[in-house]
Amino acid sequence: MHKRNNPIGVFDSGVGGLTVVRALMERLPHENIIYFGDTARVPYGVKSVETIRQFTGEIVDFLLAQNVKMLNIACKTMAAVASDVVKERAGHLPVLDVIEAGAKAAVDASVSKTIGVIATPTTINSNAYARRIASLDASIRVFSQPCPLFVPLVEEGWLDHPVTRLTTQEYLKPVLAEQVDTLVLGCTHYPLLKPLLQEVAGDKVTLVDSAVTTASQTAHLLRELALANPGDHPTPPVYRYVVTDVPLRFTTIGERFLGRSLGRVEVV
Ligand code: DGL
Repeated sequence: MHKRNNPIGVFDSGVGGLTVVRALMERLPHENIIYFGDTARVPYGVKSVETIRQFTGEIVDFLLAQNVKMLNIACKTMAAVASDVVKERAGHLPVLDVIEAGAKAAVDASVSKTIGVIATPTTINSNAYARRIASLDASIRVFSQPCPLFVPLVEEGWLDHPVTRLTTQEYLKPVLAEQVDTLVLGCTHYPLLKPLLQEVAGDKVTLVDSAVTTASQTAHLLRELALANPGDHPTPPVYRYVVTDVPLRFTTIGERFLGRSLGRVEVV
């Protein structure tokens, strides 16, 4: 079998990375995908850098054994503190730098050169987005805000709940006070809050949806490396979902994230 038919490996701390899978399915409908969600050890966004790096290495080893043709770090927390671990283990296999993709999209979108970044505490503490934005354009000012309550609120399905609205207003207050014109959604879960975030931020603020930017960068990379699946197979693409804990919660929440039914979920 040609390498082009091998799956794209997408991985995350849990269910959130399915927002990236959804964007990939829409953008690249011929690609086979294997998704790994570390549901037994989620959340990563409040864990230490050392722990996240160790877990990330284990996930990458698993995916490499599945013959993936590229790796896509859906989880921004892993990308922020462990992308070197992924790249080192992957060797020649392409790895999509999701922080770079988000940073570039934000730099392209910002006119006032004032960008806000919202993400998990570990991602914000790593300064990964701010550093990447500065390397693209040193004159841009970046205002970062950790939003630890967003992950549980989104998993609860409270996408337009008064509690979520109030939380959003509180989190965005300091960032909006800096007159940002672009806001990076630097976490797997935040695309689900887009309508609320847009409403609170106002329509003058451009939201950078990391799931969408990741999917278009993936398409670009596969084309460039002649690894895109031509879709000349009579069978539809294969989607595999692998998790580390009993998949009950993953399935119910996951279908909301993915926008379609999941089918079989494997536990390792
Ligand atoms: N997947 C994580 C991220 O994108 C959010 C969930 C977690 O904290 O594990 O940062």
